[in-house]
Amino acid sequence: MANLHSVFAGIHSPNPFWLASAPPTDKAYNVNRAFEAGWGGVVWKTLGEAGPPIVNVSGPRYGALHTPDRRLIGFNNIELITDRDLELNLKEITEVKKLWPDRAMVVSLMVPCEEQAWKAILPRVEDTGADGVELNFGCPHGMSERGMGAAVGQVPEYIEMVTAWCKQYSRLPVIVKLTPNITDIRNPARAAKKGGADAVSLINTINSIMGVDPDTLTMSPSTGGMGSHGGYCGPAVKPIALNMVAEIARDSQTAGLPISGIGGVGTWRDALDYLALGAGNVQVCTAAMVYGFKIVQDMADGLSNYMDEKGIGAVADIVGRALPTVSQWQFLNLNHITKAVIDQDSCIQCGRCHIACEDTSHQAITATKDGKRHFEVMEDECVGCNLCVVACPVPQCITLRSLKPGEIDQRTGKPASATHGDWTRHPNNPMRISETA
Ligand SMILES: Cc1cc2nc3c(=O)[nH]c(=O)nc-3n(C[C@H](O)[C@H](O)[C@H](O)COP(=O)(O)O)c2cc1C
Ligand code: SF4
Ligand code: SF4
Repeated sequence: MANLHSVFAGIHSPNPFWLASAPPTDKAYNVNRAFEAGWGGVVWKTLGEAGPPIVNVSGPRYGALHTPDRRLIGFNNIELITDRDLELNLKEITEVKKLWPDRAMVVSLMVPCEEQAWKAILPRVEDTGADGVELNFGCPHGMSERGMGAAVGQVPEYIEMVTAWCKQYSRLPVIVKLTPNITDIRNPARAAKKGGADAVSLINTINSIMGVDPDTLTMSPSTGGMGSHGGYCGPAVKPIALNMVAEIARDSQTAGLPISGIGGVGTWRDALDYLALGAGNVQVCTAAMVYGFKIVQDMADGLSNYMDEKGIGAVADIVGRALPTVSQWQFLNLNHITKAVIDQDSCIQCGRCHIACEDTSHQAITATKDGKRHFEVMEDECVGCNLCVVACPVPQCITLRSLKPGEIDQRTGKPASATHGDWTRHPNNPMRISETA
């Protein structure tokens, strides 16, 4: 079995699967059970400064987007940072870390954007024996209205300033957790690096409203008939988070800065996507909230089996492996041609591919042949767009094949070219680079 040992920003854990700062890491009871189940590390639910405890609503704080068969694909919350006493949290963190010395214990923090507030809390956290701190610059509701969370994460200058204070007042590795509610994720990541961050983690939740109750035409979920926007997470946000992770990993100004990938991770495949696109480890919240702590066992087995099959000896060897294949549209090979192929043996003749292609693509799939239902691709119309592949309910029933160099494209009547030709040199591009350049 492959060794899943992970070192992230100098923090060791037996595997790269950490629980993100959220309800799963809210108290010793949860974290002890999570470690028993096999999680490599946790980021403790965000602590605030000492004082009167945080107050949450007593109405619904969670909402969800389901598929028609009730699988949860998106999750929304209006929960604030921990509403438990600071002293109790610090005591429990100390005890849990002592019990589980081999697991990563990172403590998430959010205090006012004042040097004194950070200076006061950091030594308290260090005294617990924790392995690192994560700065919550991402919470998009409630705390941001009080000038914390996303209100800091949306201003690179504040990120840099607070990160620098944390590096000054603590010896612990500092992970800066970024908000996705920003136009260009590279700016806060660059600010974190400038401030001396040891790593960034992303994403925190995305501003969201789940919908409206059709009977009352009030926002839903609501507390006593009123609602406020919340933070969106779960499987639906993964592609958005992956793009942001890859953007930071590819940016020359943040090159080498460790990234903890968060957003929609629930399986080893999700984790693999993050690792290959530049994350050093992953954090999980929604999947653990919906399916429980034991999902980590399948995640660890799956990643380990994959590594064995591929002959990959260490998690670090996966990190960033797919990055060289991430490019910009202008560099894609416009000479590469694909066509859809339908496997008649697995086709259940539902007709969805025909409707999709007929109504919104290139009218390239038959509905009948010799008077019978029959679905077949007409290569002289197909542009290889992939719509039928994603619309077909049968996995692998429709695939795309690439034309070999020299093979005639029935649509254009021209042979497929073996040479790369992208937009930067295309004759239709008024800004093209000349062939002699
Ligand atoms: C109910 C709930 C509470 C959360 N509380 C916090 C928090 O206190 N601090 C924090 O940094 N992130 C918090 N998050 C964000 C998660 O840590 C994570 O960034 C986000 O949910 C994306 O991961 P996921 O798709 O696996 O859920 C919370 C998320 C949820 C759903
Ligand atoms: S790949 Fe696109 S154009 Fe080709 S058959 Fe499928 S939907 Fe139609
Ligand atoms: S969508 Fe798939 S299963 Fe349905 S007719 Fe088309 S190829 Fe067959």
